Amino acid sequence: MTKPFLEVLSGRKQAVPPIWMMRQAGRYLPEYRELRAKAGNFLDLCFTPEYATEVTLQPIRRFNFDAAIIFSDILVIPHALGRSVRFEAGEGPRLDPLDTPEKIAALASHADFAKLEPVFEALRRVRGSLDANTALIGFCGAPWTVATYMVAGQGTPDQAPARMLAYRHPQAFEKIIDVLVENSIRYLVGQLEAGADVLQIFDTWAGVLPPREFARWSIEPTRRIVEGVRQQVPGAKIIGFPRGAGASLPDYVEATAVDGVSIDWAAQPSLIRDRVQNRVAVQGNLDPLVLIAGGTALDRAVDDVLENYGSGRLIFNLGHGILPETPIAHVEQMIKRVRSFKA
Ligand code: CP3
Repeated sequence: MTKPFLEVLSGRKQAVPPIWMMRQAGRYLPEYRELRAKAGNFLDLCFTPEYATEVTLQPIRRFNFDAAIIFSDILVIPHALGRSVRFEAGEGPRLDPLDTPEKIAALASHADFAKLEPVFEALRRVRGSLDANTALIGFCGAPWTVATYMVAGQGTPDQAPARMLAYRHPQAFEKIIDVLVENSIRYLVGQLEAGADVLQIFDTWAGVLPPREFARWSIEPTRRIVEGVRQQVPGAKIIGFPRGAGASLPDYVEATAVDGVSIDWAAQPSLIRDRVQNRVAVQGNLDPLVLIAGGTALDRAVDDVLENYGSGRLIFNLGHGILPETPIAHVEQMIKRVRSFKA
């Protein structure tokens, strides 16, 4: 059997675009909330293979998406590097800030991969439960985005602490990035060996960087990860998500050699078609807010994505993660409309 999702990434457009959603396992699903409550804390949910497998499969059972994404988080790498990572209810992640050259000098070079073994085990289990048409996605955070949380110790509105550290102490900041590059390569290769078909690299905060910094801290580390993974797994399929990259997307695609790129809802359709989709698959880009709004606004927005990108290689997705307030009926409405698309 062929997987439509992999076909698109391999250069073969599908008449009906394959579909999945970033953050498709999560709080908008009652069955997720139930298991989340049972697991206690979020990292226990990620690191208990039985739970992580179940949560990964929940959206597949409900919506029959074309791809499952392994349930984990981008902050499991800092955790495995020995940094303290906690998820406070309703507040998001909390880490011990890594914000001085002295602290950075003491950062471990190698993650403890035994801590990540439950993620690999969950991948093996999910692999065994998926049908032959459904792809399995492994992922990591891009070094820049992971570093923004490690430096600040939490999410920030403008990623100022990491940007400032990169200006004031570029060599120290580079050490964080280098450690993340090397460990992300190993983590991603481990995910492929455990059964992932495809990898996605999430650079959620790429869009705050000026062009020179974007080239240095987003493009270059991602390029090294792609190259490092393919040295060990030739032909590995990789999707990049430099959120907010805007007019820098063609440079990102060319330099990193990704097979596909996830675009946010502010992307300019003609730029994407002429300078991105002509080279790689495009994934996106419905506004998660219109999925909450529903009704005719949702139908129109789905049609816009299909009209803008449906004549080329498209993987239908949101422009960022689904929000917890999203009604399930609206997800169903979106999927039905995408699957009845005729190019
Ligand atoms: O897509 C999926 O369904 C797979 C699972 C997944 C999670 N996080 C689970 C999660 C993926 C791919 C991520 C990626 C991630 N994590 C990113 C990059 C993508 C993006 O959405 O921007 C980032 C920046 C993080 C860091 C992170 N994890 C934050 C900022 C938060 C708190 C905010 C929030 O959404 O709650 C998390 C927690 C988190 N990761 C949750 C889930 C389902 C919610 C935790 C809970 O259930 O209490």
